[in-house]
Amino acid sequence: MNDIRPETMQRIANTELAKEFIDEQVTLIQNQVGDNKVLLALSGGVDSSVVAALLLKAIGKNLVCVHVNHGLLRKGESEQVIQVFEKELGANLIYVDATDRFLEALKDISDPEEKRKIIGKIFIDVFDEEASKVEDVHFLAQGTIYPDITESKGVKAHHNVGGLPAEMKMELVEPIKYLYKDEVRIVGTALGLPDNMVYRQPFPGPGLGVRCVGAITRDRLEALREADAIVREEIEKLVNIPWQYFCVIPDFQSTGIKNDKRYMGWSVIIRTVNTVDAVTATVPEIPFSTLTIIRDRIISTVDGVNRVLWDISEKPISTIEYE
Ligand code: XMP
Repeated sequence: MNDIRPETMQRIANTELAKEFIDEQVTLIQNQVGDNKVLLALSGGVDSSVVAALLLKAIGKNLVCVHVNHGLLRKGESEQVIQVFEKELGANLIYVDATDRFLEALKDISDPEEKRKIIGKIFIDVFDEEASKVEDVHFLAQGTIYPDITESKGVKAHHNVGGLPAEMKMELVEPIKYLYKDEVRIVGTALGLPDNMVYRQPFPGPGLGVRCVGAITRDRLEALREADAIVREEIEKLVNIPWQYFCVIPDFQSTGIKNDKRYMGWSVIIRTVNTVDAVTATVPEIPFSTLTIIRDRIISTVDGVNRVLWDISEKPISTIEYE
């Protein structure tokens, strides 16, 4: 298959052009797959969500979406996938809660690359198992976008998790493979997807797994998920929202004091960065009032956390993620 964006292809810069693209793709998809079923790993990220919405429009219930919850998603993420795709758009959605399986395999594993490998491998195993339960599927849809093809050092290529089993031997359906990210978002909006799905910040495939530093434990993971939800909620109230904003929970404890007694608790680190291509990143100013609101909410509601830090390190030398 040709992997060069056709020179004649117009840049999708507005809803009108997005609608033309959608109509074209709907016909192409229908011609490619006919009455057959198509499988899609739907993470809820921008790319897979747009592919899901396009295929739904083209083939309806013949699209079978599999959403694997690895237990490392942000608060409310799986719920949103179910709400938008199953409840609102009527998609055929298989939801798999594989949290225990992932956390069991990650137990005591502290090496970041090993963590990524385990998450990637189990993801494929779980997806493969679900796929084999669906009869007669010969097509696999993927949210490949143009930078995935052109930038061998692109984020997805570099840190891949959601890569799918090559041995599945299915014909690929890749309707957005010539689109740049901004075009994908315009198409997503034209398809009626909510803004908080289409314009959301990048989130790594291994999810909170690489932000729960060292060996993942359930208590730290839950604390991270809660703190992250608070950070997202407060940062999204700002006029200038940074490119990426999240929390990290390191694997050390420090002293706190409660009811006149000293005790050890976790720290939460707030990370906020601006970047164009994730190769370099700067740290924007965040109003101190926002930081203190975040601090107070985390300290008063997140179990086990007694310290909140703000990371002002830029890339280079510090990477955006901690692992
Ligand atoms: P770093 O930490 O290398 O991150 O400065 C650059 C960008 O890549 C994202 N990132 C990942 N994305 N899987 C992903 O899909 C990963 O394992 C992964 N690690 C980092 C990071 O969030 C940032 O946007």
